[in-house]
Amino acid sequence: MNPGSGKNGVELIGVGKLYGSTQAVRGVSLAVREGEFLSVVGPSGCGKTTMLRMIAGFIEPDAGDVLIGGVSMKGVPVRGRRVGIVFQNYALFPNMTVRENVAFGMKVQKRPQLQIEETVASLLAMVNMADRADSYPRQLSGGQQQRVALVRALAIEPRVLLLDEPLSALDAKVRNTLRFEIKRIQRDSGITMIYVTHDQEEALSISDRVALMRGGSLEQVGTPAELYSSPASEFAADFIGVNNILRGVYEGGGKFAWNGRFFTVETPAEAERNPGARAILTIRPERLVPAEAEYDGPNALEGRVAGRIFLGPLTRVALAVDSPDGETLLLDLLNAAGESAQMGDLLKVRFAPSDAHLLF
Ligand SMILES: Nc1ncnc2c1ncn2[C@@H]1O[C@H](COP(=O)(O)OP(=O)(O)OP(=O)(O)O)[C@@H](O)[C@H]1O
Ligand SMILES: [Mg+2]
Repeated sequence: MNPGSGKNGVELIGVGKLYGSTQAVRGVSLAVREGEFLSVVGPSGCGKTTMLRMIAGFIEPDAGDVLIGGVSMKGVPVRGRRVGIVFQNYALFPNMTVRENVAFGMKVQKRPQLQIEETVASLLAMVNMADRADSYPRQLSGGQQQRVALVRALAIEPRVLLLDEPLSALDAKVRNTLRFEIKRIQRDSGITMIYVTHDQEEALSISDRVALMRGGSLEQVGTPAELYSSPASEFAADFIGVNNILRGVYEGGGKFAWNGRFFTVETPAEAERNPGARAILTIRPERLVPAEAEYDGPNALEGRVAGRIFLGPLTRVALAVDSPDGETLLLDLLNAAGESAQMGDLLKVRFAPSDAHLLF
């Protein structure tokens, strides 16, 4: 028994999977705590689905081990693992009603009929589908079908629920509603959930932690705030959300040189051992704020508005900075400021040293 991940926790220890010459997953070690909501994100082909399928038991790792509740799953078939699985394409049984679909797994488990009926009723009520119990899948919308698929997976009382892009076939509004329903179900039931999505905003909005994968390996694992504010690499800085990535040189003493300018930055302790090193400064668009014309403090930049996109509550502005390389930075302005920034306008912005993140 592993006390770290709990009786319904999942632990991967050096897990790998090779397909021919493709290392789909390589040396992944990760502990998902009981009751935790972990999202897995990363570019297409980085190994998310392969990792999930190894936890479910559809494929065996060829290196390392998968533990559920501290017990090795080597040789344990899918059914013996008590994991629930929800895929992108609902995969409901087309010739069964909603009620029969949800009841199916419990029938296989040979649960008493009365208990099955009660569980089906309460699960359907939970996702607002009680009045559609006698419908067939083809009579339901995509969002409704995915609600049924979700509670069908929960009906067997899985120890872990695995979801592989469950919402990606749905339109934005339905997706938004359902992602918070999934989150609520997870909070209410305390079930461990591992949620694969290519939508990193979705991952940030509903997860306790996010695992970012790249080329079969884990690039960074942390809370949404950690991934957003303290990316561990340029890849993480670029993949999660929108970022300005400035390539320059760390001069030492909290000075970063970029395009003939010097910025004051906060540095990790080890940075002082690297003066003169090439470095990257990342600044989120919302951390670049308008400055008064007379501002002459640190970290000011001036440029012309070269593009603007209306995003509802804010306007994203592309600022062509006056520099030899003609760099463009993105900044997010709340609406009054955003509306007043017109194409070609000269704009002065600044950022706080603590709002930029230095990477080597
Ligand atoms: N059955 C298979 N046979 C051969 N190669 C495979 C197989 N399944 C996956 N791969 C390869 O393994 C790598 C990882 O695939 P995987 O499906 O895990 O990626 P993913 O992160 O889920 O991608 P996506 O976001 O597109 O769903 C890819 O290079 C893929 O081509
Ligand atoms: Mg996939």
